[in-house]
Amino acid sequence: MEKYLINPNQKISKINKNIYGHFAEHLGRCIYEGIFVGKDSKIPNVNGMRKDAVSALKEMGLPVLRWPGGCFADEYHWKDGIGAPETRKKMINTHWGGVVEDNSFGTHEYFELCRQLGCETYVNANVGSGTVQEMSEWVEYMTFDGLSPMSELRKRNGAEKPWKLDYLGVGNESWGCGGNMNPEYYGELFRRYNTYCRDYDGNAHITRVACGPNVADYNWTKKVADKVKGKADLISLHYYTIPTGVWEHKGSATEFDEKEYISTICKAYRMEELVSNHIAMMDSVDPQKRMNLIVDEWGTWFDVEPGTNPGFLYQQNTMRDAIVAGVTLNIFNKHSDRVKMANIAQTVNVLQSVLLTDGKKMVKTPTYFVFKMYKEHQDNTLIGSYITTPMINSEWDKKEFPQLVESASVDENGVIYSTIANASAKKSSKIKCQIADRKIKSIKAEILTGECHEKNDFENAEAVKTVEFTDFRKLSDGFTATIPACSVVKFVIE
Ligand code: AHR
Repeated sequence: MEKYLINPNQKISKINKNIYGHFAEHLGRCIYEGIFVGKDSKIPNVNGMRKDAVSALKEMGLPVLRWPGGCFADEYHWKDGIGAPETRKKMINTHWGGVVEDNSFGTHEYFELCRQLGCETYVNANVGSGTVQEMSEWVEYMTFDGLSPMSELRKRNGAEKPWKLDYLGVGNESWGCGGNMNPEYYGELFRRYNTYCRDYDGNAHITRVACGPNVADYNWTKKVADKVKGKADLISLHYYTIPTGVWEHKGSATEFDEKEYISTICKAYRMEELVSNHIAMMDSVDPQKRMNLIVDEWGTWFDVEPGTNPGFLYQQNTMRDAIVAGVTLNIFNKHSDRVKMANIAQTVNVLQSVLLTDGKKMVKTPTYFVFKMYKEHQDNTLIGSYITTPMINSEWDKKEFPQLVESASVDENGVIYSTIANASAKKSSKIKCQIADRKIKSIKAEILTGECHEKNDFENAEAVKTVEFTDFRKLSDGFTATIPACSVVKFVIE
């Protein structure tokens, strides 16, 4: 029997709701088809946004949406995406399948989408192939309320009032697709571009995001942090879970054996080490800890579904992805003192998406249900918790990782939310939970579980879904439970 201790007296940090954020790029069928179908589409829509997708995402709880890329951001010229749609420039999306980008989804459409979703806004602007003036004018266009060339242009395009821009990303993956820069050079560029992006609304600072490292590139973090400290608010880490670790053959989304399953979860668990080490590196050059970390791209990355455009990064999603999500979100919660946002890649039809679409049809993936289950953690307070756990050995990685990964939070009414992922594909686990200084009135629980290959598709859209969990016994100060293999369980404790 594993011991699980929760201490509601130990209030650690606020879990920023944006840890549950998402990312939508002009890539494959994420924005086009997956979210935006245009006003004239037969697919039910509001101002061009799919009704089914918007309503599912709202129900799941989508607090912030990063746009327009990704690699696409550093070749995106925002002025091509404003004005009458039929007059907008067409371009080649060179990164993603070489298809024509008609710019019908641009700045106005993005803010309309965020309005419908009720979420915060995170625009990633172009450093790689854009100018300082271009970025500066985009910020003016989006946020300036007075009389200026850009605010007049915005008004002529139908938006009388500026929008609220919450986060501004200054370049994306500047170490790679965003310009192949070295950290010192990027750090200097950040300072220059950032200078001309003004906070026009005196009451609202646009939170500045500097391009951070790829995976374990601590040298990048150290050098960039040193250059941008006092200027940037956040530094962004990108880390994807690739089962084989080999870019050319990442592994199938749906066909994998036990070793590959284990290695996938082992690689996802690496987030713990990456987050801790990058924060330590940032603090080594900025002991005042003025900057926090975000992980604005994360998730599984498999080979594309057979027969689909390799540049569209379309992959299925199984219970294995749900475990990756359950483990990773618990890690982010535990680091919520310094991790202030995370954005899974990507919302619909790309990589570890929460929704898949096929024409009019839409399915919710197992990952969707994990986000929905964890929704109540958003803006709660992380509380002390600890679980004993068997370790799982990954032969491929020559590493061990914990079978049980948990986190616990409390809301303003004192209700405790505990989420536990059992990463073993085969073994259930008995736990005994004790909650300090609490007389338990009631416990409710939900579970997402299944054989690790199970998925939802257009033929069977509800094979995997959350159901009530009853395999627990309430005690006066906690509970005992059996957590099934390959499951994510949420306990709501009053
Ligand atoms: O999410 C897909 C791509 O992965 C993004 O465009 C890029 O930033 C990263 O390399």
